[in-house]
Amino acid sequence: MRIGLSGVGRIGAFHAETLKGLDFVDELVVTDVVVDAARELADRLGVSFAGSVTELLSSDVDGFVIATATPGHAPLLRQAVEAGIPTFCEKPLAGTLAETIELAKVVDASAVPVQVGFQRRFDDGYRRAASAVAGGELGFVHTIRANTHDQAPPPAAYVATSGGLFRDCLVHDFDIVRFVTGREVASVFATGANKGASFFSEAGDVDTAAAVLTLEDGTLVTVTATRYSGAGHDVRLEVMGSDGTLGVGFDDSLAVTSAEAGVSYPGGPRHWSFMERFLPAYRAELQAFAQVARGRAASACTVVDALEAFRVAEACEISRHEMRVVRLDEIDTL
Ligand SMILES: NC(=O)c1ccc[n+]([C@@H]2O[C@H](COP(=O)([O-])OP(=O)(O)OC[C@H]3O[C@@H](n4cnc5c(N)ncnc54)[C@H](O)[C@@H]3O)[C@@H](O)[C@H]2O)c1
Repeated sequence: MRIGLSGVGRIGAFHAETLKGLDFVDELVVTDVVVDAARELADRLGVSFAGSVTELLSSDVDGFVIATATPGHAPLLRQAVEAGIPTFCEKPLAGTLAETIELAKVVDASAVPVQVGFQRRFDDGYRRAASAVAGGELGFVHTIRANTHDQAPPPAAYVATSGGLFRDCLVHDFDIVRFVTGREVASVFATGANKGASFFSEAGDVDTAAAVLTLEDGTLVTVTATRYSGAGHDVRLEVMGSDGTLGVGFDDSLAVTSAEAGVSYPGGPRHWSFMERFLPAYRAELQAFAQVARGRAASACTVVDALEAFRVAEACEISRHEMRVVRLDEIDTL
């Protein structure tokens, strides 16, 4: 297959390396608004280069990967859908709810397959948790704890266009809670804090956040995020039920030190980035996309899934600003 990729920043360069190593990719073509950055990556990886997205999309690609900064997602996805090219789009679909809804309508009305980049859906631990919940192994689930604690903040320029901690980061937890439980969120209460660099508050964002979600069946979910987890990249989920508790991310690399005497767990090296933590999942999601682009499988993460996670993030931002419980039926939808 001939695959095009736009955006060669942190995740784009990483996806390009992954794609280059996959059997189904015969040719990879990369582009970026910063033309020299794309040319340099193409040279480094020994892949092809296009001077613009328009040039790339008119060059007979079988699939397109959008890994630009978030404001680029919506226009590029529209362009790709209009050209009829199966597309993998990084999360979030767009920076605002209105744009996300519009985009979901455009994609839904087309026959073009689109997969959104929530890689945790392809992580073995989260998949095991989803099947344990679906199979009733935990009894009735009453409480879930989820967290995404980044080891270090992204650059200030990234934060300024990211959409904020809930839409940019916790949106992964909102998606995976839906995936693991098969349930929708009914209401949220969220709050945030700024304890680190001033560029977060200057962008109207927070560097640390917490939320309580109530699912439609009454399950209570607490989620936390921070850009300052000096202990390592720390992403976990605990699902607690009447018959058992299952933990995702509790391996030897867990970024927690036990305060108990004589306990040596966890003894392994810490993860220092999301790329390291989710390497197999990123690979699996792109492999799955190849099947989607070939018409052999349905998208495992649709624009409607992306919209639902984004609606939870939107509710959390309103809750944080207005200091109140926000019901999801207050948030616009399709
Ligand atoms: N799924 C994940 O785990 C994950 C992890 C990190 C980032 N992301 C998402 O990936 C996206 C990129 O994040 P990043 O950390 O790589 O950002 P980044 O700032 O490192 O890189 C963004 C790149 O996009 C390019 N770009 C911007 N607008 C463009 C356009 N219109 N056309 C072509 N290129 C354009 C920039 O020049 C830059 O090279 C964000 O939307 C982010 O939310 C997802």
